[in-house]
Amino acid sequence: MALVTSKEMFEKAYAGGYAVGAFNVNNMEIVQAITEACREEKAPVILQVSKGARAYANHTYLVKLVEAAVIECPEIPIVLHLDHGDSFETCKSCIDGGFTSVMIDASSKPFEENIEITRKVVEYAHAHGVVVEAELGALAGVEDEVNVSAESAHYTRPEEVEEFVTRTGCDSLAIAIGTSHGAYKFKPGTNPQLRFDILEEVSKKLPNFPIVLHGSSSVPQEYVKMVNENGGKMPGAIGVPEEQLRHAAELAVCKINIDSDLRLAMTGTIRKFYNEHPDKFDPREYLKPARANIKELVRHKLVNVLGCAGKA
Ligand code: G3H
Ligand code: 13P
Ligand code: ZN
Repeated sequence: MALVTSKEMFEKAYAGGYAVGAFNVNNMEIVQAITEACREEKAPVILQVSKGARAYANHTYLVKLVEAAVIECPEIPIVLHLDHGDSFETCKSCIDGGFTSVMIDASSKPFEENIEITRKVVEYAHAHGVVVEAELGALAGVEDEVNVSAESAHYTRPEEVEEFVTRTGCDSLAIAIGTSHGAYKFKPGTNPQLRFDILEEVSKKLPNFPIVLHGSSSVPQEYVKMVNENGGKMPGAIGVPEEQLRHAAELAVCKINIDSDLRLAMTGTIRKFYNEHPDKFDPREYLKPARANIKELVRHKLVNVLGCAGKA
């Protein structure tokens, strides 16, 4: 199967009460870990590339790695998506360069400006058979070079979503309901709680329209512990409870973005490996267990959180 857009994936996910996993990719081992888990679990998948990933690994290398995954996993649909596109030019470069989906994230701009830039991207993308995710509301945390402070973060306003989607023509909408980017989403000792009331309001205004959740890593404590026990320092790293993500997936949320969890699994595994084997210096020896642990983590997400296993 060639690369696909997320159109049919989202229609099925909406109707089926599950979400498709959108995992960030930066190198070969991460692409392999994600797609092998998805192939074995027969799950559709979105591989997403940030501006930072393009700067790190190079656009062509990432596209070719994803194309290799398409060849190795012909049974499952795979989307190649730009995560947090910051301008028309970045989106255009990905549309021209083989992506099947782009996000234009103008959520930090005023409402009218967000509409204007999103509409321009939609026009170009649709003319080239590519779908567009847009964002309304601002998540706290770090996205590429942009660090949104907790004070300037704000929830999506349900009264704005209908006008935004109608005027832009975007294909899916990322909303802010209390998730945030990175490994420190909630304060220790507090009760993490997503704003399901906002999600429900939004989906009433946009029936059958796919909603996206960013910042949806759960920050598995086993990996935080592994990091901290092997020379790392990540005190108070806390993520979104998995039951809440599962509930969101049953509602209008069709795409759930997970990156930090994969980073933690990789870092924890590599730190542990080096702690236990200070004499080793072959990168394949530490990348192999890191890849294996990412694969098992993705499998867990597909089966227990997203509900998309067996849906390919
Ligand atoms: O939302 C951001 C993603 O986790 C990608 O992170 O910009 O460091 O590649 P990055
Ligand atoms: P996390 O930092 O929670 O993994 O969020 C990833 C994300 O939203 C990528 O766009
Ligand atoms: Zn994001």
